[in-house]
Order: sequence, then structure tokens, then C-alpha cells
Amino acid sequence: MSQTTQGSFYSDNTATVCPEVLAAISDANHGHSAAYGDDAWTRRLNDAFSKFFGTEVRAFAVVSGTAANALSLATLTPPYGAIFTHEEAHIVRDECGAPEFFSGGAKLVALGGEHGKLTVEGLTRGLDANPPSVHTVQPAALHLAQSTELGTTYRPHEIAALADFAHGRGLKVHMDGARLANALVYLDCDPADVTWRAGIDVLSFGATKNGALAAEAVVFFQPELARDFELRRKRAGQLISKSRYISAQLLAYLESQVWLRNASRANRLAERVGRCASHFLLHTVEANEVFLRLGAERKQRLRDSGFEFCDWGAAGSDEARFVLSWDQPDHEVQALCDALVGLSS
Ligand SMILES: Cc1ncc(COP(=O)(O)O)c(C=O)c1O
Repeated sequence: MSQTTQGSFYSDNTATVCPEVLAAISDANHGHSAAYGDDAWTRRLNDAFSKFFGTEVRAFAVVSGTAANALSLATLTPPYGAIFTHEEAHIVRDECGAPEFFSGGAKLVALGGEHGKLTVEGLTRGLDANPPSVHTVQPAALHLAQSTELGTTYRPHEIAALADFAHGRGLKVHMDGARLANALVYLDCDPADVTWRAGIDVLSFGATKNGALAAEAVVFFQPELARDFELRRKRAGQLISKSRYISAQLLAYLESQVWLRNASRANRLAERVGRCASHFLLHTVEANEVFLRLGAERKQRLRDSGFEFCDWGAAGSDEARFVLSWDQPDHEVQALCDALVGLSS
């Protein structure tokens, strides 16, 4: 067993904070300032996000993606509501019931779909299988992730078709954009094209994975939907007293183009790893994650050589996930590529 780490591809949550974000925190660190979001940094958030998305929005800072998702969904869904989503979604697998808890009991309805993506056909089947009556939960929201939990990316027309159909059935549409920057880079599109212009009502906008310290935003594209969000955020302990430090991160992330630079690098590296491992690829690489079917023996060989990554899929599955972070050292990527090519031969 090797003692040296050749590279950590476990998650982009393991990455460092980028210098621009750290500098923004440091720059905000002088004098006293109003608390709980009345500071100069937080007061600029609505404008900064409105500029980024090219439409008027209301944006609220929180410190985790789980909080962003759970509080957004709670705002869109009554306690007796149903939230339709993909079976691989982070809200289904990895949020400890937070959306159910914060909504006061809404039900997640998990749907299938190739490569982590929902389709209108799948959503139709899901809705038709859950016809609302006084005995059932009431369809309330559609939730999708961009990029998806399997590193794939919805095209603008796919989101528009899903949102259009969902709205027609009376659902609001929420997007988990924990890795939105990676999707935007892959698609090379305007942020509006995969959000409000395609029918997204509320977005969890991620920054932490892509270079921030702890900063996410909930973005309401229909400001009137934000009515009770602020109270829910406070009640959930997510109205941060020293909000300036969270907002300063988000402003730096948006305004110094850190989102674009960091996601571009991470995606480029993922694409490179995907090319080296084309024999084993489970999904096309459309963001900064690479999913491989390696088998137990190859996974062990990689681990013995010092590579860290996640097992994926059901317990004992032969799948593995490699996440490329914005700050991934080049030599680690090269070493992984060499090792993967070695496994293919
Ligand atoms: C797609 C997605 N959404 C949401 C989250 C939640 O973020 P946090 O861990 O900050 O609560 C994650 C975290 O890994 C994620 O991968």
C-alpha cells in the first residue's frame, strides 16, 4: 500500500479558497458595519445578481447548499406538497431530510432518467402516477440540478421543456446550481439561458465548490415568490450576523469573473481525465466530474497507488467518481491520467 497521496479527487469541497475570495473577505474586514444583511456588501447583492442574470432578481446569501435547497423548496412547497426530482438528486440522497424538514413535511418523489437527467416523459409518468386527491400529497415543485449529480448538463431547451410542462401542471421550478458555473462553462451560454429564460423560478446558486469559503445564494427570478423566504432563512439560522463576509465572497466570485476562470479550469481537467479513461466512462463529461465503471480490482489498484476518490452507486458497485477542483494540481491530473491509461491496457 502506498503511503503517498498521488492526488485527491474525492470532491470539490476539499479544494482551497481562491485568492480573490480571500482578498475580498480581508478587504471587508475593517471598521464596524451593520449586522444581519444591512451592510454595504449585502445591499449590493440584488444588483450584482441582477446584472449577472440580465434580469431583476432578489438574492439571499446562505452558507450551505443544503440550506439553499431546503429553504428554497420550503418556500415553494406546502407541508402537504410533493417535490418531483431525479432519484440521484442531492436533496434525495445527501441532505438528511432537510427539504422535508424545512418544508414541514413535503414529500420527495424520486424519478428515474438516463445520465442523471429528468425528461418530460419521465415527469409526466411521475405526475400521472401520483394524481392529487385529498388522500395524497399535492404536486408543488419540480427540482433539477445543473450540472446534474452525474456530471451531465441540461441543454437550455431541455430545461425549457421541463419547466414549461411543470408550470402547465401548476408546479414551481427550482434548480440546484451547486455547480452552475461548471454547466455554464460547458454549454458556453448566457446564465439567463439555463435559468429564468428557460423557466426556472428559484435557483440555489453555488460558489463554495468553485472557490468560495462558504457562500451560496438563493436567487428568486420572480421577486414576489421571495415573500416569506427571509423569515424562513432567519428561522433556520441562516441569516448570518456578520453577513458582510458572506456577501463579499459572492460579489468577488461574480464580479471578478472567478466563477468563469475556476470552472473553466476544472472542466478542462475533467475533460482530460475523461479522455484518458474513455474505456470506462459511464456518462459524458459535461462539467467537472468523471464517473467510471472500473471494477473492484482496478479501484483498489488506484487506491494502492495513492489516488483518493469516491465509490459511487449502490454498496459494492464497481463505479467510481472523480471530481476535478478549480485548484487541482496539474501533476495530480497527469498522474491520474497515466494511471488510468495503464488500467486500460
Ligand atoms: C449537487 C449538490 N447540491 C447541493 C450540495 C449541498 O451543499 P452543502 O454541502 O454546502 O450543503 C452539494 C454538496 O456536495 C451538491 O453536490
